[in-house]
Amino acid sequence: MSTFPTLRMRRLRETEVMRRMVRETNLAVDDLIYPLFAIYGQDVKNPVPSMPGVYQFSVDRLLEEAQEINSLGIPAVLLFGIPDHKDEAGSGAYAPEGIVQQAVRAIKKEYPHLLVITDVCLCEYTSHGHCGVLDGGRILNDPTLEFLAKTALSHAVAGADMVAPSDMMDGRVQAIREKLDAHGFTNLPVMAYSAKYASAFYGPFRDAAGSTPQFGDRRSHQMDPANSEEALREVELDILEGADLVMVKPALAYLDVIRRVKEEFRYPVAAYNVSGEYSMVKAAAANGWVEEKRIVMEILTGIKRAGADMIITYHAKDVARWLKEQD
Ligand code: PBG
Repeated sequence: MSTFPTLRMRRLRETEVMRRMVRETNLAVDDLIYPLFAIYGQDVKNPVPSMPGVYQFSVDRLLEEAQEINSLGIPAVLLFGIPDHKDEAGSGAYAPEGIVQQAVRAIKKEYPHLLVITDVCLCEYTSHGHCGVLDGGRILNDPTLEFLAKTALSHAVAGADMVAPSDMMDGRVQAIREKLDAHGFTNLPVMAYSAKYASAFYGPFRDAAGSTPQFGDRRSHQMDPANSEEALREVELDILEGADLVMVKPALAYLDVIRRVKEEFRYPVAAYNVSGEYSMVKAAAANGWVEEKRIVMEILTGIKRAGADMIITYHAKDVARWLKEQD
């Protein structure tokens, strides 16, 4: 190996074409998954104040959005629902005519090639805003599993291409896999929110989805931000239970976890560039403090470089446009 002055690292940075050729990480539209929020009603497009550019759509308007996503070449969406009523058991999550079920059917009918992933959780649908069945103030793990499995099955029946459990109950991947298999959905993959942290970065999402817990927090099931060994154990368990893809969430404060998961398991890894990460960039950009395009591309390239194979991001439509301009 030579050193300076024989070796000069700047030689390979001299021109854009050279930089392109030695670039190690390339962000592509195929890496992107765009989150969508479906709400009851007609002709509804409610802006989410803390997430500029993000809306809650009624199913009719959601189809316009799906059309745009499809034409931008974004391969997949991750669907969340805002129900018209909430109850203790979160029954809107697994109702055959639930909001997600209706939205899936509508999107798949119009855009059969757009991959529809559904978020499987109860928190948007329970009156208390927690991710499971409660006993007093505690979330009961095992009784919650049946509800999650029912929810996943109802999404599959509606036509979802993949289900993504985000609840962090123990054993939920197995419960969902068994339920799907028992009903003939043996080829439907599960994307597990495996290392999901109890994060302040979810704040804006909870406005968008109306899922803020009415009391307490999610620390009894989501992970402590201080831990990464534990993340590997969570991922391992989800893989043993049948997860096809694993997720780390949020992304930016957990790039080391993404890297460790990728190196340890060699499974497809999704990273969720969550609402708070998006809102911070949007707020700073609106103030003229950062250049939005450059900063977003840098963040997403960093997440991919860390080891993510795909990125769930509210920036997806903008990124797809910017990538097109580059070509
Ligand atoms: C739970 C869920 C949450 C997010 C995705 N699925 C919120 C939570 O755990 O409280 C957060 C996504 C984001 O912040 O963008 N259904």
